[in-house]
Amino acid sequence: MKNIILTGFMGTGKSSVGKRLAHELNVRFVDTDDLIEKRAGMGINEIFAQFGEEHFRQLESAVIEELSSSAGMVISTGGGAIVNQSNLEMLKRKGIIICLTASVDAILSRIGNGDERPLLAKGDSRGVVSGLLKLREPFYKKADFIIDTTAKSIGDVVKEILKIAR
Ligand code: S3P
Repeated sequence: MKNIILTGFMGTGKSSVGKRLAHELNVRFVDTDDLIEKRAGMGINEIFAQFGEEHFRQLESAVIEELSSSAGMVISTGGGAIVNQSNLEMLKRKGIIICLTASVDAILSRIGNGDERPLLAKGDSRGVVSGLLKLREPFYKKADFIIDTTAKSIGDVVKEILKIAR
């Protein structure tokens, strides 16, 4: 099996869908943010605060390179991962890329107070989310498949992906 890579903006359901999907397929699930935290020995917030976003992006690319040498996994990436063309190319080598999307309202309600998201720490979450979404749209469009999760349950999205993958 090729890797199934879930990407897309924060709050679009990548981790929840990824876990359920991996369970259904009986394969390993890897969340790149979790792996970055493990490798760095600190949380994403702490990495941003101590070393800045640029350093986080380097760790992210290193983890993506490492994961892209194997197949047979479900991988969920952070929302900014495929903005970097080289990350996208590495992931495509052994995988199909599925981008999950959602409306700004759905994203805001799913991410709650955004405590664990350093990019949303500046206050105006709606403004930041809308702005980043606009900037990232051209990159998200490079995915092999796009699924709008706004009005769907995790199970619905998993079923859609299984249809694509099988
Ligand atoms: C980011 C999304 C986060 C995490 C980091 C940066 C982004 O992951 O990688 O805070 O640039 O959109 P999730 O999309 O899993 O929240």
